[in-house]
Amino acid sequence: MPRGRRVSHLPAGARYRGAVSKAVFITGASSGIGRALALELARRGYDLFLTARRVDALEGLRTEINAGQPERRVHVRQLDVRDDAAVTAAIEQAASELGRVDIVVANAGVGNSGRVGEGGVDRARLIIDTNLTGAIATIDAAVALFRRQGGEGQVVGIGSVAGVRGLPGSSSYSASKAGVRAYLESVRAETLDEPIAVTTIAPGYIDTPLNQDVRSRPFLIDVEKGARITADLIERRVAYATVPRFPWNVIAPLLRVMPTSLLARRAPQRDS
Ligand SMILES: NC(=O)c1ccc[n+]([C@@H]2O[C@H](COP(=O)([O-])OP(=O)(O)OC[C@H]3O[C@@H](n4cnc5c(N)ncnc54)[C@H](OP(=O)(O)O)[C@@H]3O)[C@@H](O)[C@H]2O)c1
Repeated sequence: MPRGRRVSHLPAGARYRGAVSKAVFITGASSGIGRALALELARRGYDLFLTARRVDALEGLRTEINAGQPERRVHVRQLDVRDDAAVTAAIEQAASELGRVDIVVANAGVGNSGRVGEGGVDRARLIIDTNLTGAIATIDAAVALFRRQGGEGQVVGIGSVAGVRGLPGSSSYSASKAGVRAYLESVRAETLDEPIAVTTIAPGYIDTPLNQDVRSRPFLIDVEKGARITADLIERRVAYATVPRFPWNVIAPLLRVMPTSLLARRAPQRDS
């Protein structure tokens, strides 16, 4: 499907504002992009079901949202996306609390791959279990729910520009995000004849705790701007887009063909 193609049955730019608020389920809503996206979507009139492991942070977020928008329905639930039975139960609970779920955002993720050859396999497993298998569990449960609800819905996966090409110092993280992208391509093809939109968001650098130790963060944007762009892309039901679109929409295809010798200049230094 061409980049940026809309698969919505709504007119371009139409927002889910109306008599009945649309309901969004988000994983990893306690921090960073998930948290800022929840605030942004609440401002745009969506009801929310917010999940993460740190339930205190979710409760604080609910209080903050309801201070500004008391009419918004906001539910929170503790969830570790590595527990797939719990992911399914959380999506079921969201549908029962909010009446239905319209959009599911698989956002939970961890970074910090470390250098290859230094025994970081436990860390790699955590990254793959959270970023890839956790997203798969979330999206699988979402598609099953949408079909039971009558068919319509939108799944959103938060990939990364790091998933376009394996980056030095990000081996398992890049692998997890390449997996998210490929998985969503399969989902998009499998559900093409159904009213299910599949959106892959690929951020560049957004200022969150995930990357605060990274030495160089080119074209960094703040998390509020990242959330606004992401919310716009979700509402437009694009198939795939970088955040911000420019310059990453130009850099991402170049990354694919860049010589490894150039890429290697960004490699982290080995401890001597
Ligand atoms: N920031 C960027 O520049 C950037 C770029 C590309 C892609 N991304 C992606 O964007 C997503 C959000 O990252 P962020 O930058 O907002 O980082 P963040 O501020 O560290 O937030 C990560 C979120 O994921 C949740 N999480 C981590 N492990 C989890 C688990 N096992 N179960 C459930 N929730 C879990 C965390 O909540 P708890 O700890 O409370 O569970 C937290 O809410 C990630 O998928 C990340 O890979 C970020």
